Amino acid sequence: MTTAQAGVVIVGAGPAGLVLGSLLLNRGIDCVILERRSRAAVEGRARAGFLAAHSVRVLTENGLAAGLRAHGRTHTSCLFRSDLGEFTLDYAKSGEGEAHTVYPQQQLVRDLVAEYLRRGGEIRFGAEVAEISEGAVRVHDGTGVTARYTAGCDGHRGVGRAALTSRGIRTARWDHGVSWLAVLVAAPPSMEAVGYALHERGFAGHMARTASVTRYYLQCPRGTDPADWSDDRIWAELAIRLRTDEFGPLHHGPVLEKAAFDLRSDVLESPGAGRLWLAGDAAGLISPSAAKGANLAILQAELLARALEGALAHGDETGLARYPADCLPRVWRAHEFSHWMSGLLHGPAGQDDKARYGRQLQYARLESLRTSRTHQDFFAENYTGI
Ligand code: APR
Repeated sequence: MTTAQAGVVIVGAGPAGLVLGSLLLNRGIDCVILERRSRAAVEGRARAGFLAAHSVRVLTENGLAAGLRAHGRTHTSCLFRSDLGEFTLDYAKSGEGEAHTVYPQQQLVRDLVAEYLRRGGEIRFGAEVAEISEGAVRVHDGTGVTARYTAGCDGHRGVGRAALTSRGIRTARWDHGVSWLAVLVAAPPSMEAVGYALHERGFAGHMARTASVTRYYLQCPRGTDPADWSDDRIWAELAIRLRTDEFGPLHHGPVLEKAAFDLRSDVLESPGAGRLWLAGDAAGLISPSAAKGANLAILQAELLARALEGALAHGDETGLARYPADCLPRVWRAHEFSHWMSGLLHGPAGQDDKARYGRQLQYARLESLRTSRTHQDFFAENYTGI
């Protein structure tokens, strides 16, 4: 096997790996990123797009925010619809709330790749890591990299997580019992803000991305085949659940992508040990109800960069030893809120007594949010904080 050497080998060029790579280069730590897919595939994948103020601060302080400052859109409120009506929650004005920056993740990834390369970093695209062992990673093509530390930023099905669980590190896991059809359309947003619609047919969500691209979500049964959802069916269902007859426009456009997925969450009991440390989805997957995934990835990359700098530049591993305790309480708070939000957005299916009871609780929670300052402050702090 041909091997190269680095201080840190990072597996995966998603938000976690790319932010970590740039932060390490800023601190003079040499690293190499191995990414199994092509550059075009990594830069073209539409995913999240909702950046919390903390994420924007980390990116700004590290010279990674030029694109999002120029093209990102500021969101300070979100909107709820149900058969009780419509209301807007100005979370940036409530309690500890702050604004979000909406910037499509593929644009952020494009900026991060460009900036990492500009700083002299090395990324090998098309390099799928087969195995991580103490101080070395082996790539499928027979090459390898030896490094003092490995950062597993390779998502929730990656080899980083598998290497840790095979050492006995356990996972806490939750299935929210809910699935979403995620639809990306070439149409301007239909509302000013993020929109959450509660409906007895299921949840519908509206997320502005850019002036010409919008993301919608429709709660759908488990096992839904996106092929069963024609464009007409999608628009008809969105119109019903978003109550556009009553509340106004639904801007149509070609459907660019549609995919169904189950809402699941999990957290590894430790995001690393010894010479292998994880960040992002590798360390834990969070359901998208509160759009925390990319923000947790950036937070963990920031904490891990600092800890790795301590170890590599100053020979001090206390930061690494503390990394789990630094991460986990924040990760769990994000999960707790995401879980709460999932309960707000999804009522139980069916018409039996239990389902009716559950739906009334859902509406009571929404009503608290509409009328109670305390509930609004709770929402604002948790929705925007990380
Ligand atoms: N070898 C090399 N690369 C790999 C391997 C492997 N064996 N396995 C996975 N990868 C790559 C994937 O191709 C992907 O580009 O790791 C990267 C992981 O990136 P993401 O899945 O984007 O994960 P992460 O960086 O943790 O970002 C997480 O961003 O999209 C949002 O909300 C979403 O929560 C998610 C967050």
